Amino acid sequence: MDFNQPAGQNLFDNAKVVGKPTTRVDGPLKVTGTAPYAYERHDVVDDQLVGYPLGAGIAKGRILSMDTAHAEQAPGVVAVVTTLDMDALPKDDTNIANLFGGDQVEHYHQAIAVVVARTFEQARAAAAMIRVEYDAAEGDYDLEAAWEKVREDRSDPSSSIGDFDAAFSAAEVRLDATYRTPGQSHTMMEPHATIAAWQEGRLTVWTSNQMINWNRQALATTFDLDPEDVRVDSPYIGGGFGVKLFLRADAVLAALGARKAGRPVKLTLPREMIMNNTTHRAATIQRIRIGAARDGRITAIAHEAISNTLPGGSGENATDQTRHFYAGDNRLIVSHLAEMHLPESNAMRAPGEAAGLMALEIAMDEMAEKLAMDPVEFRAVNDTQTDPEDPDRPFSERHFVECLRQGADAFGWADRNTMPGGRREGFWLIGHGMAGAYRGGPATTSGARVRLQPDGRLIVETDMTDIGTGSYTIIAQTAAETMGLPIDAIEVRLGDSDFPVSSGSGGQWGAASSTGGTYAACIALRAKIAERLQAGAEDLTFADGMVAGNGETRPLAEIAGEGEIVAEDSIAFGDFRSENVVSTFAAHFVEVAVHAGTGETRIRRMLAACDAGRILNPISARSQVIGGMVMGAGAALSEAIAVDRARGYFANHDMAGYEVPVHADIPHQDVIFLDTVDAVSSPLKAKGVGELGLCGVAAAIANAVYNATGVRVRDYPVTLDKII
Ligand code: MOS
Repeated sequence: MDFNQPAGQNLFDNAKVVGKPTTRVDGPLKVTGTAPYAYERHDVVDDQLVGYPLGAGIAKGRILSMDTAHAEQAPGVVAVVTTLDMDALPKDDTNIANLFGGDQVEHYHQAIAVVVARTFEQARAAAAMIRVEYDAAEGDYDLEAAWEKVREDRSDPSSSIGDFDAAFSAAEVRLDATYRTPGQSHTMMEPHATIAAWQEGRLTVWTSNQMINWNRQALATTFDLDPEDVRVDSPYIGGGFGVKLFLRADAVLAALGARKAGRPVKLTLPREMIMNNTTHRAATIQRIRIGAARDGRITAIAHEAISNTLPGGSGENATDQTRHFYAGDNRLIVSHLAEMHLPESNAMRAPGEAAGLMALEIAMDEMAEKLAMDPVEFRAVNDTQTDPEDPDRPFSERHFVECLRQGADAFGWADRNTMPGGRREGFWLIGHGMAGAYRGGPATTSGARVRLQPDGRLIVETDMTDIGTGSYTIIAQTAAETMGLPIDAIEVRLGDSDFPVSSGSGGQWGAASSTGGTYAACIALRAKIAERLQAGAEDLTFADGMVAGNGETRPLAEIAGEGEIVAEDSIAFGDFRSENVVSTFAAHFVEVAVHAGTGETRIRRMLAACDAGRILNPISARSQVIGGMVMGAGAALSEAIAVDRARGYFANHDMAGYEVPVHADIPHQDVIFLDTVDAVSSPLKAKGVGELGLCGVAAAIANAVYNATGVRVRDYPVTLDKII
């Protein structure tokens, strides 16, 4: 199905299932522990051995030798594979770092060996017996030093509109401030894990991955196989946040170990190896300059930033949202990449905007203060309905001002104290802060197969993944709505590369794309049913498990009773979509209490007002947004990768040293969804919210801390030592 024009009035505008609060169809499996995660899939293949990885102990250089004699003789050991056994494995274009092979070390904890043994303990003990001799080289690990070199270089801007310099120097009110966001780790609950088996030259991996088809292609490239000879299966995923978008060392090592041992191998990356071995959100340094007229209209805005990357990567582009979010005729965007020898930086939830808005939305708060304006009003004044870089390109739907207004009303923003440090309850200084949020609303080709069963049930098969987001449920809702079936008549099967290729889960494109693909497959099924009934598809109505047309009404089960009816299709999104800016918006409001003696910050309440088109399922969408707000609390107050700038590795590389929020940190959370639909976005007029929920949250907290204390922290996280 080509989606090449805005959706008109359609069946989802009068929906019975889509858009209604629906508990997770996979919920019972999750809460009873019967949804197996990759490492727990004991029954998919017999004879499983256990692999344990070894990571490099230097950040850059060469491996001179590896002595595996002791490891190979250790109890239970079946096979040892080292990186010196082979040249660097071929890299798929989705992979930046070398995952295995060769003597070159590109980053700390790069996988350099796998030990396969009968038990986990045996494999781990033997891995510790491998002796490695390195020739370590000097590397670049210092982002501040890289920034000093390029901060005045504007020779290659991402965009330059009007005359920023002239407009900025002529502006009545000006801000010039620099902000810092540290590297961040996804720290998802389920570690990377894979069971790999070779069966007659075919490779099967039972793994934990967001993008099944990318993973299949990458495995085919890595092991020089036909993609048809690779199967990837990942039905349940305990969190991803971007670190499971790509093939990683767990699957490569399990496959190598299994090939050498001649038996299936299961392997999980140890928690303390994940942060250096896999990917992280790059640290950023961001300079923002804003010039405005006294009435608050922005006349000049510049956002210049740098982030770290391995060669070939794209780092964290913190400037992206600034191109589209606020009005202003004179604009300058510069994005620098510092090639450094740290582990690979790559996508983490809302890549770009999450870090960019941490800075931009403090800058907006600072600017509002300089203008003596309410920060809500300052943002509303600078709203725009067309792309600030291209007035001919409208937003498909943009209701940011309504987010600001409804959020402010519901939160009680008008009752706040506007004098920083001016409200106190005992030892606690009370503050309120807010921020705007912007995140793109992409969609991409997505397929599905639907199978109407003789008993009237409908099976949906697609390689779409559910990373905790609710994909199972919104896909079931979409199929139920389109086929006029109750939701419990739908069985959704996900995450298997034997199913049609979907959008996968990333970039918050999954909801709009995968439900669009499910809709397309159901429309194809409706056409097949029409054929059987010798009727036109448009003349049939599907409701209450019945199909009506040609003057008769029959149960769907009866029609399929003659044999399963199978239909498959995918949705492709036409160019017309890019004639618009398709984006999602939010406003966040936060109340904090900061201890006057210790500087400790406690979040008291949070509220988000979101504009993201049709909300397919208010329950799972709310979970996405409050989950994002929790992540934003971590970004604001505790999360920071500590870089050892002498040795080039992340020092706090586990959950003891890298602190994510716990229940006690999280207060009352409210989420408002605006009642909007976006006909340009998808047939269901929906957009994603999974990344939007994180965007802007940290800045709202930092702004609240400023309001509480009068201390402006521009260097995340906002820890007590920076406040006192
Ligand atoms: Mo997302 S960071 O594209 O999983």
